[in-house]
Amino acid sequence: MCGIVGYIGTQTATEILLSGLEKLEYRGYDSAGLATVLDNKIHALRAKGKLYNLRNKLANTEMLANIGIGHTRWATHGKPEERNAHPHLSPDGKVAVVQNGIIENYRELREELKSKGYEFKSDTDTEVIPHLIAEYLSQLSAENAVCSPSTFVEAVRQTVNRLTGAFAIAVICADFPNELIVARQQAPLSIGLGQGEFFCASDTPALVPYTQTVLSLENGELARLTYLGVEVYSFAGERLNKMPRILDVSPTLVEKHSFKHFMLKEIHEQPGVVRDCLQAYINSNWDLEFEAKTTDELHPATVDINQSPIELGLPDELLENLEQVQIIACGTSWHASLVGKYLLEQLADLPTTVEYASEARYAPSPLRPHTLIIGVTQSGETADTLAALSMEKQRRLNAPTQFKPRLLGITNRTESSLGQLVPHLINTRAGIEIGVAATKTFTAQVIAFYLLAIDLAWRRQTLSQSRVQELVKGLRKLPSQIELILNTQEAKIEDFSHQFSDTKDFIFLGRGINFPIALEGALKLKEISYIHAEGYPAGEMKHGPIALLDKDVPVVAIAMPGSVYEKVISNAQEAKARDAHLIGVTAKETLEESDVFNNILPVPLVDELLSPILAVIPLQLLAYYIAARRGLDVDQPRNLAKSVTVE
Ligand code: F6R
Repeated sequence: MCGIVGYIGTQTATEILLSGLEKLEYRGYDSAGLATVLDNKIHALRAKGKLYNLRNKLANTEMLANIGIGHTRWATHGKPEERNAHPHLSPDGKVAVVQNGIIENYRELREELKSKGYEFKSDTDTEVIPHLIAEYLSQLSAENAVCSPSTFVEAVRQTVNRLTGAFAIAVICADFPNELIVARQQAPLSIGLGQGEFFCASDTPALVPYTQTVLSLENGELARLTYLGVEVYSFAGERLNKMPRILDVSPTLVEKHSFKHFMLKEIHEQPGVVRDCLQAYINSNWDLEFEAKTTDELHPATVDINQSPIELGLPDELLENLEQVQIIACGTSWHASLVGKYLLEQLADLPTTVEYASEARYAPSPLRPHTLIIGVTQSGETADTLAALSMEKQRRLNAPTQFKPRLLGITNRTESSLGQLVPHLINTRAGIEIGVAATKTFTAQVIAFYLLAIDLAWRRQTLSQSRVQELVKGLRKLPSQIELILNTQEAKIEDFSHQFSDTKDFIFLGRGINFPIALEGALKLKEISYIHAEGYPAGEMKHGPIALLDKDVPVVAIAMPGSVYEKVISNAQEAKARDAHLIGVTAKETLEESDVFNNILPVPLVDELLSPILAVIPLQLLAYYIAARRGLDVDQPRNLAKSVTVE
């Protein structure tokens, strides 16, 4: 939600800032802007809309400075207009600030500054920051204060101590042309260490083309970047020693390669992501050893089959004697968590709740003992998820032993704020996702839940060894089954999707473990194609939503063979009787029986418990091709951002 970048070094800043903003545009694209310092003057440029508008404006301007800051905005306070675009400047034009986050007390700060004669040009919460910095700079120079290490960093330090909320900022000042100050409080910010040049950015993709060595700021820290190096301080003013870390991110990961959109590339990455995740956590050869033992084959055992086949690297004390699981997430991650709930309850016999983070934070459920709390997030930065997890952590810290926090995160971004907040993580190995609509991160989260549920089932002895073996074997086949869907169905789905370009409403139905897939199919479609779509448990249709159906409302029914197959088919038939156009996501093997559907999106026949991973693939493709056909910006749908760092 908003991306900020900064540069100080020997190269021209603008190109580096623009390329960084390009990599961060997934965080917001309502407007963009940048500012540099040259000859003791701030030069700022801003443009409404996407980054190319700023690029076009820059084409007529020469900005040759070696220091600057940039911003790409997802509007929170104030409409997406140029006057609300960042950077915001102090009234004397000497201080320029870019911010990601929300300043909660901006109204009172605005009033205070207005009473001192400061004028405001925007509707944003951010504008109080340059004004406050200017105010502290003038106070410090009036006191003739010799501050250590510089007046500028001291003015920023005093300012951030006045701000409440979640924010990351980057600041430059005409009077301090050799300094770039950054600060972080509950919003991500990393500093890139190059050779004689330093960078800052809200996310690492903006840094990796230049350096793999980064310093991640923590909450309550600010840093002073000069041409000579980086100094880090606490908001209290104490100098801190920090160790850089080396990123393991290939710059090519954030390129589209030959794909038209990141979303399509990421859909295609799913076989590899699932394979990597399974390889990382399933004890290799466990199932082969198990088979050898049960068929009495002579086999030089390399794996102890009495051990769990899953090795998540989590400590026993996190997972033993559990009585329940509480999952906290938003959006697509919430859907993955619903699949997780099904698995944890049905495989590991653990009562599980799945809470919307935005609801959980203001209505905490009663404290229950021996609870595993899982935060699920692809960005690792979702403000609601982080806040709900922090709340759970806090309220359990001083509680009796049985309530002590047992926190686990499931994410593909281990270096994120989630990684700092929770002591244990399952890295889903999906890597960074750029398309705003989550695809590969969703399947990877679901895979993480399979692994966790099987591990817990093993520990709690709620499944027979042979059932565990069946599931492990089935999991291992998923990557090639996803490949099969992509190879054989993609062109057909592209063709098929054309007929829905003008459709206004869609209904998605699923039951049991595939009910969350109905929700996910509907969310994918609505967020990128702007077609109204709803997901329902198939059995709930007759309790109201069926009134919506007529010949113009296509119904997608996820009918995977298994315990609820016949029930879904009956529910689908009820829809057909109301003239709905019926599309079935089902296994090829059932085609003959299911002549109820007008069209079929076939997937390989699998164990019902594993079917969500396959069922979601045609739905992602359907959403993608409908949106692409409508000529929409699939990777950056309107009003959305990849990383929702505001409440
Ligand atoms: C939808 C989507 C969003 C996110 C939600 C939570 O495609 O991506 O619904 O799932 O904003 O984000 P994370 O997973 O980063 O917490």
